[in-house]
Amino acid sequence: MKILHLHCSPRGADSHSLRFSQQIVARLMARSSGARVTARDLAGLPPAHVDSVYAHALAGSRMPTAEDSNAGALVLSETLIREVENADAVVIGTPMHNYTVPSSLKAWIDHVLRIHRSFVPTPEGKRGLLHDRPVFIAVASGGRYLGDGARQPDFLTPYLKAVFETIGLRSLHFFPLQSLVMGDDAVGAAWRHASALLDAQLPMPPAVVPA
Ligand SMILES: Cc1cc2nc3c(=O)[nH]c(=O)nc-3n(C[C@H](O)[C@H](O)[C@H](O)COP(=O)(O)O)c2cc1C
Repeated sequence: MKILHLHCSPRGADSHSLRFSQQIVARLMARSSGARVTARDLAGLPPAHVDSVYAHALAGSRMPTAEDSNAGALVLSETLIREVENADAVVIGTPMHNYTVPSSLKAWIDHVLRIHRSFVPTPEGKRGLLHDRPVFIAVASGGRYLGDGARQPDFLTPYLKAVFETIGLRSLHFFPLQSLVMGDDAVGAAWRHASALLDAQLPMPPAVVPA
């Protein structure tokens, strides 16, 4: 199995979304011998914002020329789309920043959702050109945005659903870790809740007992 692991918290090793997404990766690896991981630290090495060549290429209805394709952000876009295409599963660790994804993940999205490359327009709406594969998303938030006691809007979950649906990826699994700035008890409860979801969706394979 080939796993693409994207994470985008600026908090490094303290990040809950990074650490939980690493657990998802570990769980996938335990279930598949010979799994390989491609990791992208989008906070440490953020993708550049899309540039003029890219924006002009996307604004037209034409395919980019070979010359365009060798320039600027189109090269990075191609690399990032191929990383998704080559993955059997995508794992994302993301904080909630101002009700949605951090800007580094938004920059990645701007490179990966590319008209005539990862989706095409049709009279019925945009149609994804990538085949479906599971996407596991750990979301860390300081407060609550889901369930009882939610006190803020959630533009992250519906946004990521729309983004991945656009390119053809519909099998999304969210692992929310909420209330992480509300003390140790709240952090413990958030981890227990997310870990129970992980156990339900990706159970640990039985240990192999040597003969
Ligand atoms: C710029 C910024 C914006 C934030 N916006 C929100 C927010 O809208 N809602 C929320 O619940 N927490 C918000 N937080 C808190 C983070 O989501 C929280 O600290 C989370 O644990 C960060 O994820 P991490 O542990 O993976 O780094 C924000 C934090 C920062 C730095």
